[in-house]
Amino acid sequence: MPLRIAIVADIHHGTPSHTKRGDAALPLMARFAEWANAETPDMVLDLGDRISDIDEETDLRLEREVAQAFKAVDAPIHHICGNHDRDHLSVAQNEEILGQRLVSEVLDCGHWQIALWRADAKICRDPERRGFALPETDLLWLSRVMQSAQKPTLVVSHVPVSGHDQTGNYYFQRNPQFSRYPESDRARQALAQARVPVVCLAGHVHWNTVTTVDGIPHLTQQSLTESFTTQGAPAEAWGMLTLSDTAHWQVHGRDPFEARVTPTAGRWTPPLAPF
Ligand SMILES: [Fe+2]
Repeated sequence: MPLRIAIVADIHHGTPSHTKRGDAALPLMARFAEWANAETPDMVLDLGDRISDIDEETDLRLEREVAQAFKAVDAPIHHICGNHDRDHLSVAQNEEILGQRLVSEVLDCGHWQIALWRADAKICRDPERRGFALPETDLLWLSRVMQSAQKPTLVVSHVPVSGHDQTGNYYFQRNPQFSRYPESDRARQALAQARVPVVCLAGHVHWNTVTTVDGIPHLTQQSLTESFTTQGAPAEAWGMLTLSDTAHWQVHGRDPFEARVTPTAGRWTPPLAPF
């Protein structure tokens, strides 16, 4: 039986900010829940950035409102924190609001397993070392899961690790260092240790992409409320990932996208030295 996963990313509930239409988030969450309940997926994944942050008190309220919106979903839900969930709030505060642990874990789902890689997504604001910093413990967790993987594995995170190009991205073309961990190359090396088919799924970059690195397809899903690709209207993006011998991914809404990829256990030949 294929594994069917409904996905929502970068909900960004709150005051509209730049091209993020946070004012549309809750009505769209109601529509997402209606769709997900009709589709009866095996689970729902929330890829993080549930809110647009303001301050601790406001963010607690916004996160609670999103958690309430998720209560309309029938399927089991697994959440990941994005950087905006962590600007003013701790992981523990998010856990308390969502009613689930937010540590990295592996879900055994029959033919597939899902590595919920809840790597630290906090952006350091210290001018000396501004940006993401991937804790060594998060890297080691990923490496160990990949080394010991016995079945096809979906790796889910907020921040993508493909290192894909950001040309044309409203947020990241001119700020590519905030689109990825500085340690992305080590995360990709950890993925390369797997001897099973691997698919990676992330949010954060607010566009639909497929990037294949070392035989591993990396997917990023458009934000629910982003508008930079949709002429100012919220993208209304939600997706279904169906995992069997292939991975079929369909994103609905104003920024539709569809891909079918066939991940294999084999990795690619190491690149040639400069010539
Ligand atoms: Fe986001």
